[in-house]
Amino acid sequence: MSSRKTTAIALSALSLGALVLGAPVAWAQPAPSTPPSTAPAPTTATATIDVMNKLWGRHPDLRANHARGVVVVGSFTPTPEAAGLSTASIFTGKPVPVTVRFSDATGLPNLSDGADAANPHGMAIRFQPEGGTYVDVVLNSLPYFPVATGEEFLQLLTAASESGPDAPKPTKVEQFVAAHPAAAKAGAGVRTPSSFVRETYNGIDAFIFVNAQGQRQPFRFQFQPVAGGDYVSKEDAAKLPPDFLLDELPARLKTSKAEYRVMAQLANPGDPTKDPTQPWPDDRRMVNLGTLTLTGAVADETKAQHDLRFLPNHLTPGIELSDDPLIDARVRSYVISFGRRG
Ligand code: HEM
Repeated sequence: MSSRKTTAIALSALSLGALVLGAPVAWAQPAPSTPPSTAPAPTTATATIDVMNKLWGRHPDLRANHARGVVVVGSFTPTPEAAGLSTASIFTGKPVPVTVRFSDATGLPNLSDGADAANPHGMAIRFQPEGGTYVDVVLNSLPYFPVATGEEFLQLLTAASESGPDAPKPTKVEQFVAAHPAAAKAGAGVRTPSSFVRETYNGIDAFIFVNAQGQRQPFRFQFQPVAGGDYVSKEDAAKLPPDFLLDELPARLKTSKAEYRVMAQLANPGDPTKDPTQPWPDDRRMVNLGTLTLTGAVADETKAQHDLRFLPNHLTPGIELSDDPLIDARVRSYVISFGRRG
């Protein structure tokens, strides 16, 4: 594979395809000469959001990543099998109301839905059981993540920000990808779906189910569209209206529902849970946890976009964190992004 192609795939995996596709990205400028600072170094999370803001601009009210999105509502009906795996209140049997935000990757506010850089698309679900704590599940369309930790993700974003069209070869990002094989492969298969609800979304990070007997079972979420996956070629995607995905979903839900099978891939004993770059083998058991049915647009889209602050560690008894360090890295970065969007 040519180094240009490898780089393009790695960047697309990271929602950074914009860098090689000529989207309006703020390139790194030479640092002005300033006296050494005595301020403490920013945390990894703050530095990560700083680089995202440098790459995609800082836009009041918008998320640092996955800035463009659409919010819809529906419900989740669990299977009896789910209750055998976990005591979580969302699996007790009754339908649970949900709010779901689908999104394009990057923090670019004017990105076209069909652009390569809009991959991987995101799906964030808030389960709101009556009288119980809400549970957030935050997914995207990658099969696994390009890097294993928040520190590596910062290194990759930083390398990308220093790899503009005039950067000497091999660019910083090419060097990073050469040293991190998963970075080139993670996004190789991502494609533009014909609808947000014709795409499969993956949890990537491992979590732990705990059942009534106290048994602990590591798993990863996968949300599968009941209607099946359906994708648009790169050439056709480039010709579609910029908001074709954002507009299509609320219009579709006026006349029909959209369903997802909510699946969990169960780890075998010994499968690693702390490395989101390592998918588990395909033969691992998949359990159907229930059906997510989307029924319509949210009542106040602007308010919902603003108020929703999904956190992948907002769980409930019966679902616990694993030792995957990326979850904490995500949470810390999301909180910085929340603070900047007010
Ligand atoms: C260290 C790794 C990661 C970092 C630093 C990161 C960073 C971010 C940030 C800053 C936001 C905006 C938060 C907000 O203001 O609401 C965001 C949103 C999002 N991220 Fe991540 N992310 C990471 C990994 C992941 C992974 C592994 C997934 C999928 C499994 C994912 C899926 C999403 C989705 C779907 C959204 C949009 C949430 C919404 O609709 O409000 N991210 N991410």
